[in-house]
Amino acid sequence: MPKNSKTSLIQTIASQAYQTFHNGASSGFGENNVFLEHQAVLVTLLSKITAADLNIASPKKVSRKSAEAPVTYMHICETDAFSMGVFLLKPGASIPLHDHPGMNGMLKVLYGKVNIRCYDKLEIAVGADAKDESQFEPPQGDAVSRAVLRTSGQFTVQSAPCVLSPAKDNLHEIDAVDGPAAFLDILAPPYDPNDGRDCHYYKVLQTVGRKEQGSEDEVWLVEIPQPDDFWCGGEPYPGPNVSV
Ligand SMILES: [Fe+2]
Repeated sequence: MPKNSKTSLIQTIASQAYQTFHNGASSGFGENNVFLEHQAVLVTLLSKITAADLNIASPKKVSRKSAEAPVTYMHICETDAFSMGVFLLKPGASIPLHDHPGMNGMLKVLYGKVNIRCYDKLEIAVGADAKDESQFEPPQGDAVSRAVLRTSGQFTVQSAPCVLSPAKDNLHEIDAVDGPAAFLDILAPPYDPNDGRDCHYYKVLQTVGRKEQGSEDEVWLVEIPQPDDFWCGGEPYPGPNVSV
């Protein structure tokens, strides 16, 4: 069999992502068993993808000039149902805390190591009843919200994909650890500011503390403009063609 007649793993992943997400908005993603089955297959496929499958190699040069984008993005494909691409982080780079409103996401490390901290907003009104034990009073008039740190951990090529949903782990910040790092990223549906899915950035104002032993950290977040030291450049995707 000729080598190029074999379907690439990234094509299989794209097809499965479409299968998983194309009618998710109408059927209600997380409450649907068919969706969960498709998603589980997608996670299994993503677990197998490597940088070599996408013709990507970890860079030899590890320093970064200040004029260079700290993060670059390789666009692979986008449909109404999902977008897929690769984020490449230079040494010391961070993708600041941001959200994915109403979206699902999956992230699989291709090389290097990243630290990911995931938060969720809590439905607590900012006002008189929103003071906490630390006596912190959130500024009025700003886009301030209470959130909880759900998970924090390091991910490498050996790690399972990191999965987020509209309701769980929806906000995250991602730091390259000990050198450059890259990850394959799937977002479903894609960001679309015209459909209520714009990307917002946040800063942790104050850690509220833990209600009880073993529970998660609660924090105050404030929405901020995109930080000056973070911007994302583009670079060509060198891997197999993908069509959906
Ligand atoms: Fe993200």
